[in-house]
Amino acid sequence: MFAGKPVNLRIAAVLLCCSTLAVSDALAQSLKSGEQVYKEVCFACHAAGVANAPKFGDKKIWAPLIAEGQAVLTAHAWVGVRGMPARGGSPNLTQEEFSRAVAYMARAAGGKWQDPDAGMLRRIKAEEQVRIKSLNTKK
Ligand code: HEC
Repeated sequence: MFAGKPVNLRIAAVLLCCSTLAVSDALAQSLKSGEQVYKEVCFACHAAGVANAPKFGDKKIWAPLIAEGQAVLTAHAWVGVRGMPARGGSPNLTQEEFSRAVAYMARAAGGKWQDPDAGMLRRIKAEEQVRIKSLNTKK
């Protein structure tokens, strides 16, 4: 009578395990790529260079920015700089997504930046603190 039970339990365990995997997989995938973020958000200003936004793909304009380094430039853009609104004006972006978009734009202008790994994300966060402090002391 109970012969089927262990099998059902095993199936249930497998289903539970796989659906948990599927959920964490979906979470990882739900992070947008740099290209997606660029096309959804940054494009609005950076495609045409609105308000002096460094134009997408313009190597000359991007060279000195790329020279600032990935952590510093990403942090400054995330915090906001002059006409560049904090997070590109899109508060729902995660820092990782935003950083990917910066790397995507840097690559389009000849930079060799990759999507940030955990170490780079830590460096970006550290640079943000430096930037926020220096902005606060200027006021
Ligand atoms: C509302 C317009 C606007 C949007 C949207 C926007 N930017 Fe910008 N961005 C600017 C402007 C203007 C500047 C130039 C700021 C300056 O140097 O005066 C800029 C500068 C930058 C810089 C250079 C920062 C520096 O330190 O000089 C980066 C990197 C950047 N933006 C990334 C992004 C990313 C990534 C997005 C999308 C998530 C984005 N921007 C969306 C307007 C925008």
